[in-house]
Amino acid sequence: MSLYGLYPSLVRPLIFCLDPENAHSLTIKLGSILGKEPLIKLFSQQVAAKPVEVMGLKFNNPLGLAAGMDKNGDAIDYLGALGFGHLELGTVTPKAQKGNPRPRMFRIKSASGIINRMGFNNAGVDYLVKNLQQRHYQGIVGVSIGKNETTPLDNAVDDYLICMNKVYNHCDYIAINISCPNTKDLTALQEAEPLVKLISRLKEEQGKLAAGGRYVPLVVKIAPDLTTTQLEAICDACLRLKIDGITATNTTTSRDAIYGLPHASEWGGLSGEPLRARATEVLAQVHAQVGDRIPLIGVGGVNGIIAAREKMAAGASLLQLYSAFVYQGPAVIKDIVDNL
Ligand SMILES: Cc1cc2nc3c(=O)[nH]c(=O)nc-3n(C[C@H](O)[C@H](O)[C@H](O)COP(=O)(O)O)c2cc1C
Repeated sequence: MSLYGLYPSLVRPLIFCLDPENAHSLTIKLGSILGKEPLIKLFSQQVAAKPVEVMGLKFNNPLGLAAGMDKNGDAIDYLGALGFGHLELGTVTPKAQKGNPRPRMFRIKSASGIINRMGFNNAGVDYLVKNLQQRHYQGIVGVSIGKNETTPLDNAVDDYLICMNKVYNHCDYIAINISCPNTKDLTALQEAEPLVKLISRLKEEQGKLAAGGRYVPLVVKIAPDLTTTQLEAICDACLRLKIDGITATNTTTSRDAIYGLPHASEWGGLSGEPLRARATEVLAQVHAQVGDRIPLIGVGGVNGIIAAREKMAAGASLLQLYSAFVYQGPAVIKDIVDNL
C-alpha cells in the first residue's frame, strides 16, 4: 500500500480530532515544509500521464485542485507533487483581509460534506505573487481573483482589475470568482448587467496585457444556486464576450441534501458529496447551451472515478476537487487520474 493509502485509517482520525480550520492550517503548514527538498521526493505521488490540452494550455491530466485550499500559495510545490494536473490558488483580493469570524468551517461527516463561510480570508495578492515567483512546480497554475469585503459592489471591477494585473505574468489562467456565497452581495455580480460590465472590462484588459506577448485565459466560476433563466443569461454573456472557460460550480447555499444533519443549519457554502448532483446538473445545463465553444471545468463532489466520469459525461474537459481531499487525502488524486 502506498504512503497515502494509510490516510483514511491513520491520519484522518487524528486530523478530524482538530477543529476543521486548525486542521486546514496545519495541512498547509505541513505542505509548505514537505514541499521542499529533500522531503518532496518522499512525499510526492506518481500518477498516470493523461495529457489534455484545454484553453490552449497543456495539462498533465484533467484533475486539478479547486480554489480555496491554498489561498495564498503557501504549499504550491507540495500540492503540485501529489499528481494534480493543475492547481487553482486563491481566491485572493487586492488587500489582505481576515474574513468572517470563526468558527467558519464545519464538517458534515455523515454526508462527506463541508460547510464554509470563510469570506475570502487571504494574505493579499502581493503575498501570493511572491509565492508564485518562488515556485518550482512546473504544472498549470490558475489564480482565482475576488474583491475585498470593504469594496462596494459598484467598484468591484477595480478590485478584479488590480488582482488581474498583478497575477497575469505569474500564472497560466485567471478565474473570476463571482459565485462565493460568503462575501456580501458578491453573487449579485452574476446578474446579467453587472456581469457583462465586469467581463467586458476584464476581457478588454486581457487584450491589452496579451499584446505583451502572452495570452492568459479568463475563466468564470459560477454558483449552483442559479435559476435556469440566470444560467442562460450567463452562458449568453460568456459566449458573446468570448470568455475562455466556465467553472461549474462553487458551493451551494441549499441544505436540501443534508437537512437535519449536525451543523446543517450553519450558514455558508456547502461542498462535497451533497453538492455533487446539483453541480453536475448545472454543468450539463451550461454544456447544453455553450457546447464545445467554451471549455468547462467540472467541480462539486468529485470524490472518485464514478463522480469524475459523471462530470466528463456532462461536458467537463477539466475537473477539480476540494472536499474529497479532506475526506480521502492525496490517494483520491491517484485513484481518479489513474482510472480516467
Ligand atoms: C473551505 C473552503 C474554502 C473555499 N474557498 C474558495 C475560494 O476561495 N474560492 C473559490 O472559488 N472557491 C472556494 N471554495 C469552493 C471550492 O473551490 C469548490 O468549488 C467547492 O468546494 C466544490 O468542490 P468540492 O465538492 O470538491 O469541495 C472553497 C471550498 C471550501 C470547502
